[in-house]
Amino acid sequence: MSINQKRGFKYLTFTLAPALLIVLMVLVPTMSMGQGEESQVPAEFETCTDCHNDTTLITGKATAWSGSGHGTGTAYLRSTNAGCAGCHSGGAFSAMVAAGQSPNQVTTGDHSPTRQSCRACHQIHETYTGTDWALETTAPVGLYAIEGTTFDGGSGNLCTNCHQPRRAAPVGVDGQVTGISSHWGPHHGPQSSMLLGTGGAALEGSAAGHYTFVGDTCVSCHLGANDNHTFTPSVAACTTCHAGASNFDIGGRQTAIQAKIDQLGTLLVNAGLLSSTDPAEAHPNVSSAPEDQAYALWNWILIAKEDRSKGVHNPAYTEDLLDASIALMCDGAPALSIMVDNVYWASLADYTGRLLSVDYIIGNGGTNAFNVMLTNSSANNGVSVASPLPASIGDMTAGASAPITLQYNVPSGVSTFRASNGATAQDNCGTTYEYGTQP
Ligand code: HEC
Ligand code: HEC
Ligand code: HEC
Ligand code: HEC
Ligand code: HEC
Ligand code: HEC
Repeated sequence: MSINQKRGFKYLTFTLAPALLIVLMVLVPTMSMGQGEESQVPAEFETCTDCHNDTTLITGKATAWSGSGHGTGTAYLRSTNAGCAGCHSGGAFSAMVAAGQSPNQVTTGDHSPTRQSCRACHQIHETYTGTDWALETTAPVGLYAIEGTTFDGGSGNLCTNCHQPRRAAPVGVDGQVTGISSHWGPHHGPQSSMLLGTGGAALEGSAAGHYTFVGDTCVSCHLGANDNHTFTPSVAACTTCHAGASNFDIGGRQTAIQAKIDQLGTLLVNAGLLSSTDPAEAHPNVSSAPEDQAYALWNWILIAKEDRSKGVHNPAYTEDLLDASIALMCDGAPALSIMVDNVYWASLADYTGRLLSVDYIIGNGGTNAFNVMLTNSSANNGVSVASPLPASIGDMTAGASAPITLQYNVPSGVSTFRASNGATAQDNCGTTYEYGTQP
């Protein structure tokens, strides 16, 4: 390489945009090799090496990020729509923050959308020095969908700009909620409102210990002490407070909450409101619903499909919402009745053996009944029931009736007797109710 060529390159470095210069920074030392010269970064680019250097400072984070949801997801493609751009495009997010807007105030879509990349979260290439690792914003976030609610959780505020609900919970009009679509719900990412204990239907909660005591909220658990850029929470982030924890299921709370998620999901599917109990597949099956059912549906979507921490973000509020929603979906006690239809000796042998048959009809004038059992029939005047009890009658829908025949040993000389009967039934939630005289 001739001196002139080298000068030519140096001349270029003073006239072209910085983005090209990084390439030259790499080229210049290479060209100098073999001539015994020292490799030298031009003074005006020295600060570039705060970041662009021989360490894994950038590449270590880039490797982790590129396998994360931010680095692999395809939701950034939605950013051509202005209503989606502020949260779904990294570039539009930076512009939104600079303009002091919230996501619902963005008026133009981004037609060169980027993922939630380094530049979205960090102030990359603002001063071209190491201070550009500073986060794009850590200001408290007013949750725009939930009036009067501010999230102030340290550097987790960065995350909350995007991970906040887009819609507040529904409120019924004349006992009915309308406008339910297959995309209905708070939108993906209500983790911040969950930490605050708000955003569920028909029930407000209070802020979690994980909001109040975990400094930097999201960032402490999801990035941890080593700034893990997979954004996957680590158990190491829990043990400072939960000594000895070996997984996230601390105190068995995730297991307990998952069981309630499953129970509520099944109730919603059985009632025809939800398409599936698998959160990845599930969507509402109705366009309107009685408010109680709509509230339960909203809360299941919020917890199972959108928050997805199985209660970790706010154990108390999550469990309270599930309990309240299960109660809203439970039909309550069926109304069972029993009446005598026919009394007879079924055969000559029964007559001589004093074995009397009684046909009963069990009626259900209430809600759907499950696992109906005749549990008891105790008689006076020395009469005793001969049929084995309890006897299963099975499920009885509202308004249904079912026959059952019992036989009694009637001592000779006895011409009348009374029998007191008892039954049990369950409602759609498995709560057992008792009727009449139990054994
Ligand atoms: C705060 C750390 C930091 C500093 C300081 C810094 N950069 Fe970068 N730079 C980055 C990051 C992060 C990327 C993106 C890396 C990635 O996506 O893999 C990047 C990417 C680049 C790229 C690749 C093209 C692009 O834009 O993505 C060039 C060229 C570049 N930087 C040049 C420079 C120059 C020239 C300077 C100094 C004038 C500089 N950088 C200072 C962090 C920094
Ligand atoms: C610019 C908006 C934005 C910011 C800021 C942001 N996220 Fe996200 N995040 C998203 C979007 C959008 C997705 C979904 C990406 C996709 O699927 O294409 C996502 C996905 C995720 C996922 C993956 C979920 C999965 O299903 O695997 C986690 C975890 C996550 N974000 C945590 C965080 C944390 C922690 C922070 C703060 C350090 C943060 N996010 C900051 C927008 C953002
Ligand atoms: C307030 C910020 C915000 C706005 C506005 C927003 N989103 Fe999202 N969206 C997110 C976040 C955050 C996630 C990821 C949350 C998670 O994984 O928990 C996400 C996830 C998604 C996903 C799921 C991605 C996947 O792979 O599962 C789709 C689809 C989506 N958004 C579509 C849209 C559309 C369409 C719009 C505009 C009409 C929109 N979003 C507006 C924040 C937003
Ligand atoms: C979703 C937001 C988000 C994205 C995307 C992101 N980071 Fe970070 N990064 C953080 C947060 C939060 C921290 C913790 C630092 C803090 O709290 O100030 C951090 C810390 C860092 C640090 C340590 C900074 C220091 O001052 O020691 C480096 C280096 C870094 N990130 C590099 C990157 C690179 C490179 C990329 C792109 C491949 C990237 N980050 C993408 C949120 C993000
Ligand atoms: C106390 C620690 C903690 C805090 C604080 C926290 N998270 Fe989480 N987060 C978790 C754990 C643990 C899980 C569930 C992991 C599991 O069971 O797979 C989770 C799950 C998630 C998921 C679903 C990930 C997936 O793969 O489905 C997202 C997205 C998320 N959190 C984002 C956030 C955001 C955004 C914030 C702040 C607003 C936040 N988290 C605050 C610990 C925390
Ligand atoms: C700064 C302290 C702190 C950190 C760090 C922390 N927690 Fe907690 N956690 C608490 C407090 C305080 C409570 C009780 C108050 C509450 O439930 O809101 C709690 C309660 C819980 C509960 C309910 C426990 C039970 O017995 O029912 C679970 C589950 C939980 N945390 C999971 C986690 C996980 C998973 C992490 C790490 C990803 C974590 N916590 C990190 C302070 C912390």
